[in-house]
Amino acid sequence: VLDVRKLYGDSDHFTFDPGFTSTASCESKITYIDGDAGILLHRGYPIDQLAEKSSFLEVCHLLLNGELPTAEEFTKFERNITYHTMLHAQFDSFFQGFRRDAHPMAVMTGAVGALSAFYADSLNVDDPKQREISAHRLIAKMPTIAARAFQYSQGRPFVTPRNELSYSENFLRMCFSVPAEDWVPNPVLTRAMDRIFILHADHEQNASTSTVRLAGSSGAHPFACIAAGIACLWGPSHGGANQEALEMLEEIGSVENIPAFVQGVKDKKYKLMGFGHRVYKNFDPRAKVMQKTCYEVLEQLGINDPLLHVAMELEKVALSDQYFIDRKLYPNIDFYSGITLRAMGFPTNMFTVLFALARTVGWISQWKEMFEDPSRKIGRPRQLYTGATQRDYVAVDKRG
Ligand code: ACO
Repeated sequence: VLDVRKLYGDSDHFTFDPGFTSTASCESKITYIDGDAGILLHRGYPIDQLAEKSSFLEVCHLLLNGELPTAEEFTKFERNITYHTMLHAQFDSFFQGFRRDAHPMAVMTGAVGALSAFYADSLNVDDPKQREISAHRLIAKMPTIAARAFQYSQGRPFVTPRNELSYSENFLRMCFSVPAEDWVPNPVLTRAMDRIFILHADHEQNASTSTVRLAGSSGAHPFACIAAGIACLWGPSHGGANQEALEMLEEIGSVENIPAFVQGVKDKKYKLMGFGHRVYKNFDPRAKVMQKTCYEVLEQLGINDPLLHVAMELEKVALSDQYFIDRKLYPNIDFYSGITLRAMGFPTNMFTVLFALARTVGWISQWKEMFEDPSRKIGRPRQLYTGATQRDYVAVDKRG
């Protein structure tokens, strides 16, 4: 048995907490979650109020700067963002290097990381002005990159950003105006897109945000840190769950198949995707807004999606089943987002890309907050070593 105290010097304090279930990695003023009560606040404002009354760009200002903007501040902020929406012309050839059938999340990870090569000045992370410019660049360029990842996967030409449009309208136009030349923004869908972005904007120290902070703690280029966050988000236990949740609903197919599917979950053959959360042991407040948005989008488009009936029935069955009650498993944001995004015209492999686009503001706000903390240290988790004790090298001909 190894003596932990010997291995870790004289320190009497050693915490072993795999998965960080009870360890805070930082202080933050950005987002508050009460998982038992199902409460989510950004800078003190409840998520349902922001989703209902605010706009995504306004929420970006709130997360980054701590306050909702005055009218004048908003105009300035919007001008700063739209100033940066374009990508360098050479960037287009970078996209051409990917296989046509590459997952758009693979393209996102590569493309956002590659921005580091275009904006060397952003590496000056100790300059507050430069940090602000990096944040604006990222918020501005993500829709352009995400739309290009989408258009590239569809074999379509890229659409240039139009800065007179709102953030979400511009994004939808870049995604859908080719080949639909008669494309006109649908205000209900634009509002839904904006609300989906708000719902995904930040969520305190989840896996991808912690990844961004850890990567940033070494002073790495901010675009490289966000690329690290995107890579982490891709996993099915995190941002990849929205794609998996829709694929699961498709696999279930119809309401009659739900009991057998739920039994498989209880037998631990697979998980119910879009359900459960590390922090929420109650309804995810974002899931409620997402469900409402889902109804609005389907109604607006006149879509009667059988998968919505499967999802609603599955939710009903799960919420009244002792397995889920005992483990406090409730729908999370991903349960209804897939049906909504599919109705809006996005293929499943774009779902996590949209999550990454929206979460970029949360990542960069957390990154910026970390740099503003004078007590910032490089992140360096310890480990509980369980390997061999010290031993001597044995020549190859003497090894048994
Ligand atoms: N379906 C079935 N059972 C589940 C689920 C689920 N979705 N989630 C947790 N459980 C069960 C576990 O099997 C475990 O059961 P046990 O006590 O009998 O062993 C118990 O509930 C506790 O689960 P943990 O894995 O310890 O919970 P943890 O906090 O580590 O995991 C997570 C949280 C990863 C989100 C998990 O609930 C999950 O995998 N959900 C499905 C994927 C998903 O929807 N992810 C999106 C999360 S939200 C987001 O990233 C935007």
